[in-house]
Amino acid sequence: MDTRVTKMLGIDFPIFAFTHCRDVAAAVSNAGGLGVLGAVAHTPEQLDVDLKWIAEQTKGRPFGVDLLIPRKYVGAESGGIDFASLQSMLPDEHKEWIDELLARYGVPELPSAESEREQRGMAGLRIDPKSMAPLIDVAFAHKVALIASALGTPPAWLVEKAHANRTPVAALAGRLDHAVAHKEAGVDIVIAQGTEGGGHTGEIATMVLVPQVVDAVAPIPVLAAGGIATGRQMAAALALGAEGVWCGSVWLTTHEAETSPVIREKFLAATSADTRRSRSLTGKPARMLRSAWTDAWDEADAPAPLGMPLQSLLVAEAQRRIHRVAHKAESSARPLVTYFVGQVVGQMNVAMSTRDVVREMVEGCLDAMERMHGLLGGE
Ligand SMILES: Cc1cc2nc3c(=O)[nH]c(=O)nc-3n(C[C@H](O)[C@H](O)[C@H](O)COP(=O)(O)O)c2cc1C
Repeated sequence: MDTRVTKMLGIDFPIFAFTHCRDVAAAVSNAGGLGVLGAVAHTPEQLDVDLKWIAEQTKGRPFGVDLLIPRKYVGAESGGIDFASLQSMLPDEHKEWIDELLARYGVPELPSAESEREQRGMAGLRIDPKSMAPLIDVAFAHKVALIASALGTPPAWLVEKAHANRTPVAALAGRLDHAVAHKEAGVDIVIAQGTEGGGHTGEIATMVLVPQVVDAVAPIPVLAAGGIATGRQMAAALALGAEGVWCGSVWLTTHEAETSPVIREKFLAATSADTRRSRSLTGKPARMLRSAWTDAWDEADAPAPLGMPLQSLLVAEAQRRIHRVAHKAESSARPLVTYFVGQVVGQMNVAMSTRDVVREMVEGCLDAMERMHGLLGGE
């Protein structure tokens, strides 16, 4: 399949995989798409190890890296805040409310050694320029084919650096004005992500957003994201004017994904009505599986979620406590388990290999295009 993005990146199919899992990223690139590794929670050392591994697995095929570059976050004015200061900003009221919620579901405390380890790892989100810059250096050292970013327009220094390295830059947009700002900043690809999508997401549906973005940012090519997991959905995205698709949720139930067994089980059983947009994990609205956790944060007595990255810091230990015990079949913590996923979770009913997901998507897309061609009538 030939679109401007397949030519720009040297790939066979215009299928982009956002994933936190290096095995999925490598498998998608090897299947002819472009695997893009989500690196916001990596240390530079981990990213170096993972990109080296992906490069070995993909033997010259292209792959990319994705970062979160939020426009607004706690401490943005000063370019980021240190861990101890962030920790001191967590209100007692919020901590007590979470402790009560976990007590209600019988979630045990962490053993103290684990708790200490967790404390050190918790500052993990590299969203400020100072902690992000080393990740970008590692990405360029591995000659990534694409740098993508979400939650804000990539800063000029990043676009300049990427272009000096001849690396295209892509940025996610959930609204038309965000897409236009990305264009003005000089990005090479705009990813129009509809509200159906998993993870941080806006309020406008993919069907409505994509054609508007395509028109507004022309001639910059657009990828459609949010609600795309099959070939028919891919064909629809191309019909809307997108030159490729950017998918996140569909990889989470593949054999290669590192998704925990409890989450995998919940995803395979869920319907498209079982997701919520919630600020409860990161402070910004993100689509995730509805669970007792998201319901509790929607209740009247719940505290207002904090800003990014305070909310992630606030809930990190609670999430760890839940996941540590939820794999036990009889665990009372199970109802609390949630994770980012989009409405396509209702279509993710059997675990498949990543390669088969890509193959079925391509075949389904071609079938749909042929069927539509048939609607024209004639010979
Ligand atoms: C588990 C998960 C985590 C995500 N984290 C990020 C992220 O760190 N950076 C990013 O650009 N997008 C992130 N996204 C959004 C994806 O890039 C993508 O736009 C979205 O998944 C597309 O919609 P879909 O889930 O319907 O395929 C995430 C999505 C999921 C499902």
